Amino acid sequence: MIADTPSWAGAKLAIVRRTVTDRLHDAGIKEAPIEARHMLDALFNTEASGHWLDPDQSLDNAQAAQLEAMCARREAREPLSHILSEWGFWSLDLKVSKDVLTPRPETERLVEIALETLGPKPAHILDLGTGSGAILLALLAECPNTKGVGVDLSPAALAVARANAENLKLDDRAEFIQGNWDSALAYAPFDLVVSNPPYIVSDVIETLEPEVRQFEPMLALDGGADGLDAYRALLPLMAHYLKPGARFIFEIGADQGDAVMDLAQGHDFLNKISLFADLAGRDRVFCATHC
Ligand SMILES: C[S@@+](CC[C@H](N)C(=O)[O-])C[C@H]1O[C@@H](n2cnc3c(N)ncnc32)[C@H](O)[C@@H]1O
Repeated sequence: MIADTPSWAGAKLAIVRRTVTDRLHDAGIKEAPIEARHMLDALFNTEASGHWLDPDQSLDNAQAAQLEAMCARREAREPLSHILSEWGFWSLDLKVSKDVLTPRPETERLVEIALETLGPKPAHILDLGTGSGAILLALLAECPNTKGVGVDLSPAALAVARANAENLKLDDRAEFIQGNWDSALAYAPFDLVVSNPPYIVSDVIETLEPEVRQFEPMLALDGGADGLDAYRALLPLMAHYLKPGARFIFEIGADQGDAVMDLAQGHDFLNKISLFADLAGRDRVFCATHC
């Protein structure tokens, strides 16, 4: 017989939280306690209401059923970001879905470096492979004198980026266009080009966590046989996209620093080629200037 009353109905939050944590932990989820907390916060809408979770509060039938569904999806290793349909990046709450890469904390390093490049002056920014719009929208939010273009091959990803721009009231300064890496040439020149392109070696994808290999868009992950396909396509385009003296800033895989430096050496219109490391000392950002 299938029980139609969810087991958590009437249970106190303190117990529920412990049980969810244990279930997620058993499913192999490393951050189980934090994720359980996020699920309960979403269920009780604590952020919007400004209230803390009360451990003595109990769940009604509808909340119990909703939590059971969330927990089961997460046990199947669907990313928490997909279950919650939103994710924090930089200072922004972004809508996310299966059609976009969930923005990663390491990409915030790229945003930091881009902000050092952008001053208070007006600037025109290009984000290649914009996905949810995370990088472009973070920069536009920080720099009110900027405007930008986000390009992506995926129409579904662009729908998410446009919705995010609208929700954040940045849509008057952001334009999104569908197409390949060279699709924004008609909008050139730019003061800054940013990109977090797909850079995972094709054969490595099947070894990644299920959250990534089963649920994130392959177009956002697959960097080809050596992971460098996108950089090979992007680098020559910088001669056409960047104003003289302007800079590009790309995210790279943690072991790709030497390889992208070699690729860049072949382009004599570039100077000040440099790598930036993350807090763990791994190269994660690659920059150069159009001389
Ligand atoms: C790693 S994701 C980055 C998403 C977002 N910028 C971020 O940092 O969270 C790479 C993005 O590049 C897009 N992409 C892949 N190949 C592309 C191509 N040839 N032209 C344009 N966009 C492409 C994917 O659809 C995906 O949204």
